[in-house]
Amino acid sequence: MNTSNEKRLAGETAIRYVEDDSVIGVGTGSTVAYFINALADIKNRIQGAVSSSEQSTQQLKSHGIKVLDLNAVGPLSLYVDGADECDPHKRLIKGGGAALTREKIIAAASGTFVCIIDSSKQVDLLGKFPLPIEVIPMARSHVAREISKRRGQPVWRDGVVTDNGNWILDVHGLSIIDPLGLEAELNQIVGVVSVGLFAKRPADVVLVGDRTL
Ligand code: A5P
Repeated sequence: MNTSNEKRLAGETAIRYVEDDSVIGVGTGSTVAYFINALADIKNRIQGAVSSSEQSTQQLKSHGIKVLDLNAVGPLSLYVDGADECDPHKRLIKGGGAALTREKIIAAASGTFVCIIDSSKQVDLLGKFPLPIEVIPMARSHVAREISKRRGQPVWRDGVVTDNGNWILDVHGLSIIDPLGLEAELNQIVGVVSVGLFAKRPADVVLVGDRTL
C-alpha cells in the first residue's frame, strides 16, 4: 500500500476513538488532514476541537467544526496526531511541520493519545529524522552551540516562524538510545521552548494505516 493510502486509512480509523459529545485534540500534518476530513462527517456528534496549529484550525473551520481554547475546556479525553518517527515503545519524533510545542501541550493535557502514521515512520531507534527543537529567536546561536557540545549537528530551519513566533533548529546525526534522558537534558538548555521528542509523554495507541500497535 502506498504512503498516502496508509495515511488516509490511519486518519479514518482514528474516528473509532471519538466519543459522542466530546472535545477532540487535533494535531497537525498531512495524516491529520485525513482525520479532520473524516471528523467533518461526524461533526454533529462532537462539541468541537482544540487545534495544535493555525493550519489545522483553518481546515477545521472550513468544515464548520468549532475550534475551542484549551484553557476553556480543561483536560481532553482524546488527542489524535501524526509523527515523523515512532519507535516500538510508541515514543515519537514530531515537529516536521513546526507545530511541536502546541502538539506537546495538547498531548500532555489528553487522556489518550492516538498517533496516526504510515509504515515509513516506524523505526527501531529514533534520530534518523532530524530532531526539531523550537527556540526563542534570540537564543538560536546559544542553543545551537550547546547542542553541538553534546552530540548533534543543529541546522536552523531558516525562514520558518512557528505559530508562537519562535524559530526551529533541526538536529541531525542523533542516535537516540535514551529518549527520556535526552528529552530532559535538551529541555534544560536556556532558550529552548520545546523539544520534538515525545518520550515522557509517548503515544498510547499507534495506528499504522488501519493496523493497531
Ligand atoms: C507537525 O509538527 C508534526 O509533528 C507532524 O505530526 C508530523 O510532521 C507528521 O506529519 P505528516 O502526517 O504530514 O507526515
